[in-house]
Amino acid sequence: MNRVLRLGVNIDHVATIRNARGGLHPDPVRAAKLAADSGADGITAHLREDRRHIADEDIGRLIQAVSLPLNLEMAATPEMVVVALRHKPHAVCIVPERREERTTEGGLDVVRYRENLRPMVAALVGAGIRVSMFVEPDLRQIDAAKDVGAPVVELHTGAYCDAVGDQHERQLARVVAAAAHAETLGLECHAGHGLTFDTVLPIAAIPTITELNIGHFLIGEAIFIGLEAAIRQMRRLMAEARA
Ligand code: PXP
Repeated sequence: MNRVLRLGVNIDHVATIRNARGGLHPDPVRAAKLAADSGADGITAHLREDRRHIADEDIGRLIQAVSLPLNLEMAATPEMVVVALRHKPHAVCIVPERREERTTEGGLDVVRYRENLRPMVAALVGAGIRVSMFVEPDLRQIDAAKDVGAPVVELHTGAYCDAVGDQHERQLARVVAAAAHAETLGLECHAGHGLTFDTVLPIAAIPTITELNIGHFLIGEAIFIGLEAAIRQMRRLMAEARA
């Protein structure tokens, strides 16, 4: 079935630039409002343990000032569950987190941490939050996401985006198989990480994927063509892939 494909714009790196100088500019909330006016369907923000980009105050401001649903990315820690239950964003995406990493380097090991995750997922789902698990396109991880009670999986597309040569097709096939598996389990399927104008088409063409979350490339491209143009071009490519 060919479903509607939403675009979640991740505005973390607007905050990265703001924090480089410690002031208020550029404001990720302003970027989120511009994303809303440019065709985004949602805003994604990752509140990291070290607060290297998004800060606690940004979460409340994003929910209050922006018309789009907020997808809060967070680690599975008691501190973050308290934050999520306080703000009740539309969605929470649970991601693995290591302080020393530059970005979310791999998917969450739901198989391994299943028993820790189960009560956190239950608390978030119980508060009416749509919970997704950010996992590698690995069928066992998707089975485990279903088992812990998450209604959504987000497939990590980093390996696909980084792949060169014949690895490219192999990594794409993994994402395609994982999306098909999520569908058979009745899970909603999202995807993201590393997507660009050059890599988005085959992922957007997977008919059961309903949301792409894209950040770093869009914010980087905004330097050259502006955020509105970058988002509109990404949306055009997504529509083309689905046509
Ligand atoms: N989805 C998740 C769960 C992520 O952690 C990230 C990175 O914060 C993204 C999507 C977006 O990745 P990128 O910034 O590479 O587009």
